[in-house]
Amino acid sequence: MSGTRTEAVQRMSAKVLMANYRRAPVAFARGEGIRLYDLEGRVYLDFVAGIAVSVLGHSHPRLVAAIQAQAARLIHVSNLYLIPEQARLAQWLTSRSGLDRALFGNSGAEANEAAIKLVRRFAHARRSGRFEIVVAEGAFHGRTLGALAATPVAKYQEGFSPLPEGFRAVPFNNPAALADAVTDRTCAILLEPVQGEGGVHPATEEFLAAARRLCDAHGLLLIFDEVQTGIGRTGTMFAFQAYGVRPDILTLAKGLGGGVPIGAVLAREEVAEVFQPGTHGSTFGGNPLACAAALAVVETVEEEDLAGRAAVLGRILQDGLLDLGRRTGAITAVRGLGLLVAADLDREAAPIVDGCRDRGLLVNAVQERTLRFAPPLIVTETDVREALGILEQVLSERVGQGPRGGEAR
Ligand SMILES: Cc1ncc(COP(=O)(O)O)c(C=O)c1O
Repeated sequence: MSGTRTEAVQRMSAKVLMANYRRAPVAFARGEGIRLYDLEGRVYLDFVAGIAVSVLGHSHPRLVAAIQAQAARLIHVSNLYLIPEQARLAQWLTSRSGLDRALFGNSGAEANEAAIKLVRRFAHARRSGRFEIVVAEGAFHGRTLGALAATPVAKYQEGFSPLPEGFRAVPFNNPAALADAVTDRTCAILLEPVQGEGGVHPATEEFLAAARRLCDAHGLLLIFDEVQTGIGRTGTMFAFQAYGVRPDILTLAKGLGGGVPIGAVLAREEVAEVFQPGTHGSTFGGNPLACAAALAVVETVEEEDLAGRAAVLGRILQDGLLDLGRRTGAITAVRGLGLLVAADLDREAAPIVDGCRDRGLLVNAVQERTLRFAPPLIVTETDVREALGILEQVLSERVGQGPRGGEAR
């Protein structure tokens, strides 16, 4: 059959893969740093980073070496046995977060599932009769049924009823509504410090502080979902550190493994102790390979102060987008924290995503008219300027006639 290698992959994918993702017509052969190379040899600046995952960029020598060495030693044994790499990673994460214990899974949804089970069991253990979790409108906590029930967005929940009960949604950044939603059934509040998929909306300090106060006053548990914001992305190792509001439970995934699938839930001692043998588990969770990779990632992020770098480069990116908005009129708002940044457009985002990709820049759309920028934390100012240049070119070309694409959600 004729055609490019990419077209061959496209044909085969269309035949044998489920059609749940809207995939752009590009396949990557390799990556290096902030650049990806496709099957046809074209190069792209990666401001998607595998959806805010690849914090060290692609093929980072330290991460590659850690994975190679661990793979050659031992990949998997299960949690029937002690795993030194898992204990070391838990040691690192607890010491940096101020929480006491860790449990590992394989994704963000799984980390949130574990957090949901943890707060339910905590309430059961106290025979409090409490089971309800207050969540925020516009949140995204994952696609498994429990995490989906905690994601009060119709487009994600549609067609999957009945969902697990016990979730109550309030408007994001509305402390009064949060207080009103807490009843004698409430056991926890679950929030993202920055709503990522919802359009990159940072929480206000007032909102997170109100959540903490409500939890303290009513004996509830505060869960922060830092699946997207954790591991340096927002300018601090964990986003909650910039707010000065401590959670009882913290969930992580995405950046943690730098691309190797791993998720984690961290909790205070008193909460963690409700998980005793037999209560929860995962065959793969925290296996030697994933933990060795995550250790290499977190140590590199810390040693190279990539969180501090995210704060500086994020500011440069936001300033550049604001300037572009002033000059073109095409950007109506810019927001974000660190290297998790969004730009609202005066037009549909999908054609801009396609246009940028055609010109060698990967970005994605988190809402109909909102672009998200989440490059690896190793991005340089030169990379940011190059990305802004491509975006400016695309915005000025009035693209919009092409087919939709580039949005995987
Ligand atoms: C805040 C947040 N929580 C949970 C998830 C789900 O993570 P995963 O896709 O790894 O299950 C995501 C994914 O985008 C997320 O952004």
